[in-house]
Amino acid sequence: MTRTALTADDLAAGAPVHSPAASGEWWRDAVIYQVYPRSFADGNGDGIGDLPGVTARLDHLKGLGVDAVWLSPFYRSPQKDAGYDVADYRDIDPLFGTLADFDEMLEGAHERDLKIIVDLVPNHSSDQHVWFQEALAAAPGSAARDRYMFRDGRGPAGDEPPNNWQSIFGGPAWTRLAPGDDPSTGSGQRPSTGSGRGGDKGPQWYLHMFDSSQPDLNWDNPEVRAEFEAVLRFWLDRGVDGFRVDVAHGMVKAPGLPDWSGEVSMVEGTVDEPTTDPGAPEDGSTGAGNSGPMFDQDGVHEIYRSWHSVLAEYPGDRCLVAEAWVEPLSRLARYVRPDEMHQAFNFSFLTAPWDAARLRTVVGVSLDTMDAVGAPTTWVLSNHDVVRHASRFGLAEIGGRQLNGIAATDPQPDAALGLRRARAATLMMLGLPGSAYVYQGEELGLPDHTALPAEVRQDPSFFRTDGAEPGRDGCRVPLPWVGGAPGNGFGPTDKTWLPQPDAYADLAADRQYGVAGSTYEMYRTALELRRAEKIGTGGLAWVDALAGSPDVVAFQVAGVVVLANLGGAPVVLPDDVDVLVASGELVDGALPTDTTVWLRA
Ligand code: GLC
Ligand code: CA
Repeated sequence: MTRTALTADDLAAGAPVHSPAASGEWWRDAVIYQVYPRSFADGNGDGIGDLPGVTARLDHLKGLGVDAVWLSPFYRSPQKDAGYDVADYRDIDPLFGTLADFDEMLEGAHERDLKIIVDLVPNHSSDQHVWFQEALAAAPGSAARDRYMFRDGRGPAGDEPPNNWQSIFGGPAWTRLAPGDDPSTGSGQRPSTGSGRGGDKGPQWYLHMFDSSQPDLNWDNPEVRAEFEAVLRFWLDRGVDGFRVDVAHGMVKAPGLPDWSGEVSMVEGTVDEPTTDPGAPEDGSTGAGNSGPMFDQDGVHEIYRSWHSVLAEYPGDRCLVAEAWVEPLSRLARYVRPDEMHQAFNFSFLTAPWDAARLRTVVGVSLDTMDAVGAPTTWVLSNHDVVRHASRFGLAEIGGRQLNGIAATDPQPDAALGLRRARAATLMMLGLPGSAYVYQGEELGLPDHTALPAEVRQDPSFFRTDGAEPGRDGCRVPLPWVGGAPGNGFGPTDKTWLPQPDAYADLAADRQYGVAGSTYEMYRTALELRRAEKIGTGGLAWVDALAGSPDVVAFQVAGVVVLANLGGAPVVLPDDVDVLVASGELVDGALPTDTTVWLRA
């Protein structure tokens, strides 16, 4: 292990590769905190988080120093996919409270100068939505059926699915109605429906890219488009500051729904392992993008142009954020062209391996491609769909299937290594210009629950793959607020809808507030500095002397030098630098492995 010693000259910034942004709309440099309502805080003691729970903990978010909150769905829903199966887009599920609770939460957030972004799920509804119930009761070819993707089956009797698409949660993407569900086939005799269906095709099939309880809507239908514009207005009128758009790359399907034999899973499969492979893609791709005739079709952009104009009618800066698993980044940038959405999650960054060269590439390409369309770049390391970065980075193999949950029978992460790297990765992320997303609990350094018993699992992807995929429950475990209290203070009782791992007691919020060196205090300090130094709107220049380093990522933003050491040997810092915040302790003036520091050179 040779120590690298840096001089002050080594830290000089090269030519800027990203220019400072004029201060503009709030979302351009916002740090946005994701609340997953069922696991954030429980107000009434039933073991499931709720909106009064969020309201009661708003001071935690204010104290942390974030600018905005994105809430995962709280709409009326049978909760087959934790609320991403919406039965009524204009009401709150009783599990989470009432519209009055929502208004109170929104008011509490606005009083604290926190913006609120809600989740919009337009690709599919719940099968309990009144529209789907109407479609079931109506005949093939009817207007009610046309709001969804109903088709006759293939084969003479129609008993083969209309195409070979697979659901992202596993199994076929088509479900056939039972004869009793399909009024046109009740007697087994095919009545003439006037719909032009030839032969006795039997009950129809409907498309669901996710669970069979989540039928895909037909975005070629003007009624569907009008309805979602009305839903946008409903929440804009209530005062929300923006929408996170679920599966934003999936709403329009290729005409004719052609067969597709490629990979459809959202977060599994081809995500790369750490490598210094010179052949790693120069466009920053990691394999996180979905492809096929059901994704990233050119027709989706027209929808976002119309939504852009709806938002523009409202006062203040309201925003649309795309959840689009699209690669390369130049394709993703199309979602945030000036008249479309405002931001898109950067999944190429989330899935990048812990490797200096690969990280420099994805950061550089992200800035270039988003700059080209005038949109802020976003950064994200964790969310409710992937293994938390404190666990991911503790795995010998980062990426692959383990993004979609870790089971007790899988190799277990090294918790200390994972946390150390997670803190280093976060400090690098928060030093980047643009907008950053923080998933609830990462400010506490929480790992996943990586050994949940099968009996408590709830993610439909676990069931649809017969347990082959552990699913995403491990990153959705209720938060610990008070270490050692019943349920670690999740709510007023000891109930938690998923069990917490033992490690959560020591990581509880109350054990970290004001504790020097805690993960919470590292986040809080970094966010305070980020705001004071205007890092979010800063320009970025690579530190030239280290631009080819296999071990160190180094850049300068708004006068702050961010240095991350991913190599095996410590990096000795010059004597006269001013350390602003560090993800771990320096040892004899050197930056140890898996540590990031912010400096003023
Ligand atoms: C998005 C959500 C995920 C959900 C899926 C279907 O990817 O983030 O949680 O299961 O869409 O709505
Ligand atoms: Ca509750």
